Amino acid sequence: MSEVMLEINDLHTYYGQIHALKGLTFTVNKGEIVCLIGGNGAGKTTTLRTISMLKPPKQGYVKYKGQNLNSVAPHEIVTKGLAHVPEGRRIFPRLTVKENLELGAYTVKDRNLITKRMQQGFEIFPRLRERQSQLGGTLSGGEQQMLAFARALMIDPELILLDEPSMGLSPLFVETIFDSVVALNKAGKTILLVEQNALMALGISNRGYVLQTGEIVLQGTGEDLKNNEAVRKKYLGED
Ligand SMILES: Nc1ncnc2c1ncn2[C@@H]1O[C@H](COP(=O)(O)OP(=O)(O)OP(=O)(O)O)[C@@H](O)[C@H]1O
Ligand SMILES: [Mg+2]
Repeated sequence: MSEVMLEINDLHTYYGQIHALKGLTFTVNKGEIVCLIGGNGAGKTTTLRTISMLKPPKQGYVKYKGQNLNSVAPHEIVTKGLAHVPEGRRIFPRLTVKENLELGAYTVKDRNLITKRMQQGFEIFPRLRERQSQLGGTLSGGEQQMLAFARALMIDPELILLDEPSMGLSPLFVETIFDSVVALNKAGKTILLVEQNALMALGISNRGYVLQTGEIVLQGTGEDLKNNEAVRKKYLGED
């Protein structure tokens, strides 16, 4: 029996009158890569923002390692080992790479641990080591994505929420990012991945959910969804 790490139950989230999530129910087990795919406006980002309570639900609950997160503040959720790499990277443009990483570790008090984790991040993304004194805002898009990712790793998370890590990247960078997702998963991290790049995301995922206007319309193993005709037509650009 696999251990449930994240349990989402009947989640409803609104932006004013807009009913963005309409009763989402799904789970992520410890050690899995699970992906959420769906078109623009399907509610992928809202799902991640609701899980990390940046946008709390109106109905339903989020449980992480058995604990209800509904009334836990976002900064406290981070200290529980749940990291969120937001859409559009959101790094600090006027701070250096090193300073960005240090800020990611703001909940960590031990200096040696901060240095150690920064070195681990540099091992995954050697390009960041070369550029540690460069301002975040002057990094390329792909490098900024690596920085956002490495910053989330500074808390040594157990569960990582990744919002479209491949967006706007060249094929080479996309591969680097996906390879690092797989490597982190092999190293024991559980991952909930949101992607428009459905084919690649399903290719590395144990399971996937297809979201459409705030509802899950299909679910299955990564392999099943990749071969599902409706998915291929709608999300993989095949007609
Ligand atoms: N801050 C907001 N205020 C009002 N409506 C919002 C807000 N953020 C999102 N929405 C709406 O909620 C719905 C879901 O948006 P969301 O950003 O979660 O979609 P998404 O699946 O991440 O899309 P994309 O692939 O374009 O990133 C959309 O209809 C969107 O217009
Ligand atoms: Mg989004």
